[in-house]
Amino acid sequence: GTISLNDKYIQSFVEKDELTALQDFVESAHKKIHEGTGAGADYLGWLNWPSTMDDAEVSRIEETALKLSKDVDVLIVIGIGGSYLGAKAVQDLLSPAFGRTGLEVVYAGQHISGRYLEELLAYIEGKKVAVNVISKSGTTTEPAIAFRKLKAWMYEAYGEQEAASRIIVTTDESAGALRKTADEAGYVSFVIPGDIGGRYSVLTPVGLLPLAAAGVDIRQLLSGAKQAEADLISTNLEENAAYAYAAYRQVLNARGYSTEVMASFEPAMAGMNEWWKQLFGESEGKQGKGIFPASVIYSTDLHSLGQYLQNGRRMLFETMVSFTEDQQQSQIPFDEEDGDGLNYLVDKTLHEVNQQALNATAMAHHDGGVPILQLEIPKLDAHHTGYLLYFFMKACAMSAYLSGVNPFDQPGVEQYKQNMFQLLGKPGYEK
Ligand code: PA5
Repeated sequence: GTISLNDKYIQSFVEKDELTALQDFVESAHKKIHEGTGAGADYLGWLNWPSTMDDAEVSRIEETALKLSKDVDVLIVIGIGGSYLGAKAVQDLLSPAFGRTGLEVVYAGQHISGRYLEELLAYIEGKKVAVNVISKSGTTTEPAIAFRKLKAWMYEAYGEQEAASRIIVTTDESAGALRKTADEAGYVSFVIPGDIGGRYSVLTPVGLLPLAAAGVDIRQLLSGAKQAEADLISTNLEENAAYAYAAYRQVLNARGYSTEVMASFEPAMAGMNEWWKQLFGESEGKQGKGIFPASVIYSTDLHSLGQYLQNGRRMLFETMVSFTEDQQQSQIPFDEEDGDGLNYLVDKTLHEVNQQALNATAMAHHDGGVPILQLEIPKLDAHHTGYLLYFFMKACAMSAYLSGVNPFDQPGVEQYKQNMFQLLGKPGYEK
């Protein structure tokens, strides 16, 4: 099965002609993506990655994860931005909410909170720990600080030799401080391909190793992405849902709908929302342009931001993601007294009720002036998750090229760093 784009609640806002008017621009952006003729063409490695990834590398990741599952209680994944959001997203989506079995995967280096790191150090006391430090540049401050602290803890707890055997590095093949450290200390290491940028790297060892360790079937994840790679190849907007999604976004943006709210009725999607926000926000927000990516989890947020969505400023459009198959068949039980008046629901499952909540919300927000795109996914599993990841990456590249920006750079993230280094007196940055 594949992801389909339901545009029922968009039709009263956008004429079909407006979309087809973009067809030529889509053709030309498609060329940029597939022939590498656009800005940022050095970072197109993700495009054919699912169909070309070395099988031996997948096996090496699985073997490393298997070894970790035997030797380790807690795997600490250190990284920020594209170096952690993908793994966190997929882990949150596919792992059970309660009582996860096996190895615990936790994250560090995604901020500079001393409280968090000290609590983590207290938590791992007496546990068997390994670290997977992930940084493409190998020089990012946040993960470097976390790694320095955890490395010191590990060397103290295990001694040099054993600590070194519990550290896995994922970084560039040759460049950066982390590669040098890894080679010198003899850490096990994995390579982030040079032509794949952080936010497009979830299907490389960046995401795959933490996910395999967390018990995710990474071959299924890759197979879904591979199917998406094959499916999302047409330039015809009728046939390519990722391109149609991208084109609708740009039509809406041109009309002043400058904020996109990713909405899901599945709370396990919260991490995926964060990954998606980074992918689109960092790819498109430049040159004074871009759709601001926001997210909600319903029905939780219908009791919070729902009011704004219904009646607030009308610069919003919504993208609702739903999983169509009822995988739990969770029934609402009959109650003799019916004090809560819910007996009218006894022949329904929670999935059906949730689905009607989605339909009701889509109707209401549409009537309140919010254009709504619906992405319908047949099933919530590793295969379809891989498909979804690739779908968004392809849509993002298309959307960014349609709006005339480089989908693969992030010049703006440097500015705060320069200021911070200057304020902290980093050698070479003093003024
Ligand atoms: O998408 C990106 O390129 C960024 O978000 C990076 O992933 C992030 O800044 C982390 O960079 P690095 O992996 O070099 O530490």
